[in-house]
Amino acid sequence: MVNIINLTKSFKTIKAVDSISFKVNKGEIVGLLGENGAGKTTTLRMLATMLKPTGGTASVNNYDIIKDPGRVRGEIGILFGGEVGLYDRLTARENIKYFAELNGMSKSETEQSIDYLIEMLDMKEYIDRRVGKFSRGMKQKVAIARSIVHRPTVMLFDEPTAGLDVTASRIVQDFILKCKEDNKAIVFSSHSMNEVERLCDRIVIIHKGKILEEGTVDNIKIKYKSDNMEDIFMQLVGDNNGK
Ligand SMILES: Nc1ncnc2c1ncn2[C@@H]1O[C@H](COP(=O)(O)OP(=O)(O)OP(=O)(O)O)[C@@H](O)[C@H]1O
Ligand SMILES: [Mg+2]
Repeated sequence: MVNIINLTKSFKTIKAVDSISFKVNKGEIVGLLGENGAGKTTTLRMLATMLKPTGGTASVNNYDIIKDPGRVRGEIGILFGGEVGLYDRLTARENIKYFAELNGMSKSETEQSIDYLIEMLDMKEYIDRRVGKFSRGMKQKVAIARSIVHRPTVMLFDEPTAGLDVTASRIVQDFILKCKEDNKAIVFSSHSMNEVERLCDRIVIIHKGKILEEGTVDNIKIKYKSDNMEDIFMQLVGDNNGK
């Protein structure tokens, strides 16, 4: 599980993330919601040990992100949207293998894991082709496979469906639900309210680096006496702008 405690990141004068705290349990999907620049990516990058906090900390399965980043990396799978960063000249299989090796997996473990992923993601046809000419959706599947080949127990997703069509988005969403079924702890960010409502057990609304609200979608709807998450979001963010 993930435990975030007063996590803070300043870039010079900007407090991108300002003392946020929340937990994510096994088998739970927590969605980060917030406007552009709210601090979602910065939070996820700190959890992924790609960025050092300037205050507070977080732990992943009791490994501290500051004291034990190597161990943390072994526990987490990362899928960030946009350019997924595969090696164009390598085949899909080689890309996944390379990442598995970086994570210290043995050859046989890697092969077994990749065989399973080829089945799960239906990648038989192109697993041994170079990824350079793959479509966005095909690349996303390779990125999905790479994110999970080392069998992490915590998954971090930053706008994983951004720029994908309906079919490719569904593949990613189904993958996120499969991760939940497999009892992983999941944090993800998205700008799609539909997606958030469909996937999340709980949401955390952040604004200017601070948590404005958190809870289940149902509880938040009851609290704000509205059935429309988008309206609630706009109201919350609007009330806190300029403050
Ligand atoms: N490397 C950096 N150097 C300076 N400022 C940064 C850096 N990374 C992020 N920021 C600033 O931190 C704040 C939070 O950015 P962040 O990318 O975390 O937002 P976000 O919630 O992911 O937004 P979006 O929805 O647009 O992806 C912004 O003001 C951004 O300009
Ligand atoms: Mg972002």
